[in-house]
Amino acid sequence: SRAPDVLGLEEPSSSEASSSEDDSEDEPPAVTPIESSPPAPPQEAADARPVVVPPPKSGKIPRTLPINRGVPNPSTFISVHRHPEVQTNREKLPILAEEQIIMEAIHDHPVVVLAGETGSGKTTQVPQFLYEAGYTKSGKLIGVTEPRRVAAMSMSQRVGFEMNLPDLVSYQIRFEGNTSEQTRIKFMTDGVLLREMAKDFRLRKYSVIIIDEAHERSVFTDILIGNLSRIVPLRAKDTENGPLKLIVMSATLRVEDFTENSKLFKTVPPVIKVESRQFETTCHFQRTTPDDYVSAALKKACKIHRELPEGGILIFVTGQQEVNQLVRKLRDLYPSKNLEKDQLDDFNGLDEEDETIEKTLRKATLKRKKGQQSKVPTRSGPMAKGVLPRVDLNQYRAIPLDDTEADAMRDDQPEEEDVLEADPESLGVTTGGQPLWCLPLYSLLNSDKQARIFEPVPEGHRLCVVSTNIAETSLTIPGIKYVVDCGKVKTKFYDKLTGVTTYQVTWGSKAAANQRAGRAGRVAPGHCYRLFSSEVFKNDFPLHAQPEILKRPVDDLVLQMKAMGIMNVINFPFPTPPEMSQLKVAERRLLSLGALRFDKASKIHQITPLGKSMSAFPVAPCFAKMLALSEQQNLMPYTISLVSALTVQEVLLETPVGNHEDSFNQDEVRKIRKIWAGKGNHLLLGDPMILLKAIHAAEYEAGSRGNMLDFCNRYALRHKAMIEIRKLRRQLTNEVNLVLPHINLALDPKMSLPDDNESNLLRQIVLAGMVNQVGRRLEVPPNITDPKERAKLENAYQCGNLADPVFMHGRSIFFLKKKTVKPPEWIVYQEVFETDRMHIRGMTAIEPEWLPVFAKTLCNFLPPCQEPEPWYDIESGRVMCKINGTFGPQAWPLPTLTLP
Ligand code: CDP
Ligand code: MG
Repeated sequence: SRAPDVLGLEEPSSSEASSSEDDSEDEPPAVTPIESSPPAPPQEAADARPVVVPPPKSGKIPRTLPINRGVPNPSTFISVHRHPEVQTNREKLPILAEEQIIMEAIHDHPVVVLAGETGSGKTTQVPQFLYEAGYTKSGKLIGVTEPRRVAAMSMSQRVGFEMNLPDLVSYQIRFEGNTSEQTRIKFMTDGVLLREMAKDFRLRKYSVIIIDEAHERSVFTDILIGNLSRIVPLRAKDTENGPLKLIVMSATLRVEDFTENSKLFKTVPPVIKVESRQFETTCHFQRTTPDDYVSAALKKACKIHRELPEGGILIFVTGQQEVNQLVRKLRDLYPSKNLEKDQLDDFNGLDEEDETIEKTLRKATLKRKKGQQSKVPTRSGPMAKGVLPRVDLNQYRAIPLDDTEADAMRDDQPEEEDVLEADPESLGVTTGGQPLWCLPLYSLLNSDKQARIFEPVPEGHRLCVVSTNIAETSLTIPGIKYVVDCGKVKTKFYDKLTGVTTYQVTWGSKAAANQRAGRAGRVAPGHCYRLFSSEVFKNDFPLHAQPEILKRPVDDLVLQMKAMGIMNVINFPFPTPPEMSQLKVAERRLLSLGALRFDKASKIHQITPLGKSMSAFPVAPCFAKMLALSEQQNLMPYTISLVSALTVQEVLLETPVGNHEDSFNQDEVRKIRKIWAGKGNHLLLGDPMILLKAIHAAEYEAGSRGNMLDFCNRYALRHKAMIEIRKLRRQLTNEVNLVLPHINLALDPKMSLPDDNESNLLRQIVLAGMVNQVGRRLEVPPNITDPKERAKLENAYQCGNLADPVFMHGRSIFFLKKKTVKPPEWIVYQEVFETDRMHIRGMTAIEPEWLPVFAKTLCNFLPPCQEPEPWYDIESGRVMCKINGTFGPQAWPLPTLTLP
């Protein structure tokens, strides 16, 4: 398929997309019911198989297909020569006993739901069954989607290994993969498949799609299933490409959303349950529920290690920091000679800022609550009349399209204290004894370190894995007999009304707790120690976790759907439909980005050429717009660097503490950041400029001295983040070259710093992407005379339509440099973030004259009047400005970009 023209002068050809639209908006197309005419199995196999007419209503599936291992039919069956040891091991898996039933059901039905306990062999075995049964013989692929990148990579390796055919099994995750001509089984993240659908809605490359871990209900999984419910009937009629089989796999039996949703599948798909040979797990509750579950987990793990017979321990906590704290502590207590002290990424950015500001704000908030006059500053003029109405504000975090790893997102919170610094004695923990083989596991951990959980445990050690919920279902760790479960999960909450993100640790669900407990019964009867009381479990745990689609903004999804030709997102067959208001908000934000336009005739938000260009870039819509605009004036390398850096979490260390010799204290971090800020005009680009500089400098060091790590340590950069940025830059460059072949960017472009002219253009680009995140500094009311007080209040901004003032982050360049440079009046920002107060992250200064051009939807255009500059209108919550007169492109002193 053709790459869309980035400036959208040409429409990309999308005949499939539009035809699917026709089919999809109303009823699904009439499909010959499978009862009367079973769909053909994969092409070459078609003749060889006896046609079985299943009696679907009775629910019984006949067993007459020649897929019996003993009599492989040479025309359909591909033999795989596995290593005998592998073969013996896989025969122990419960799913092997069900192979015939599963394969018959897949043969007879276009859609099959497969539910089975984690570890029963779904992910590793079903693709092999399909391969052996000839589903790839016509040259088509078996596609398997995973909600997590780790799972896609490790499972493809595992299956290749088991089949002894590593070249046939590949993976593709965001920008990265090892697929080739030889690939027959392709593991990918669900986002990757969604993007493939945008290019080829019928998924012609594939004969089977397996949606794995469907119980996780990631947004992309849900959308995939919705789309596939339309693609499967299309392919049933498609004589050229043959049928597409859909297998939905779930670790729980809660599959009603897929089977009983009348909007999804015309015929209710059969559900096959794989009986597991799970051993019993005994659950032990605490009598009381401790607040400090990390210490409680440590104590419990030590007790198990000292008192209970052999068997691996798996500890569930909520995030990366907690994992690292526990691992460090456990390694200190029960050291292993074999385990080198590998660097844990244990920087605890305790987010302590200017406390006085915080106190002022708190006081102000308190007073307001009591109904007293607020002392919080408001701009004189219209704003002084009161507080702006709270309406939806776009706060769009950098959620890259394909990176749906839930716990990756959970890990970027500014951090809690290291509760485990306490003396082990005081925790009632004894040291010494058998060494522990203690390994961390979380999604941001390097994959080679993750892979260690599958390696044999050295002689004389007990395995102990400390994990986030990543070990809950997608990975099965061998040899676990004891589970310690804190019961909590860390979730990113997105306030739909204010657009503010917060992280909260809350109780997980009963289903998740039972999944965690189940991890203990894989090898023998196991034990699960729950760090909470049975009362709490009974009363405070919801039955199931909410599907992700109900919890996060859906802008990127809406854009992808529109690009696929699904204009009427409200009628889409979502397994769980998001609130109508959420879809509308997403449409509105895409409208203000210029990605959609309202078509008066159809009364539908249509995608614009800019929107189509944006949808080609695998990043969040705001970043996609920046890329789409950067073709001009050779800005692309900078924007690629910026977008890469803004997508990676915590590039600049906040407050590293820990056992590193090279750790810094607060003052040092501030000092170093001031060095990064430097002087000069480019300061106006603000915090993103530091990121550009950091990349520039670190890459230079890496090139000239070959040692980036040292440099990062010296200048408070997170080395892993810099490596990730390097990877992202390369991958995004590749992607941009695919979308815009005529630009032909070098893979490792020489980094240089933007000159003044370029940095002004970059400010406009940042504004164009962040149109919904415009803020203006609040004026300190003249009646506040105390200079100290005034200085504090000078850090406050009015952000979008947020009622409360938001404060500059203490680490922002504009904060650090405020003695020499007056904080800018108009800004765009990355994020409003609430911990115990609201602050702005990632500030860039903008010129108000740019607003009518780049943030048109924020502005009301008035006839010429006396107002000298744009202002907020209290009634509408909008920026007002005068378009003619002194303002307007001709009068601008700065170089400007054009919008398509
Ligand atoms: O998908 P499901 O949870 O049903 O099971 P699976 O991931 O297919 O795992 C089946 C078995 O393979 C488990 O017992 C795992 O321990 C094992 N396995 C392994 O030993 N090494 C891997 N890299 C992946 C799975
Ligand atoms: Mg699995």
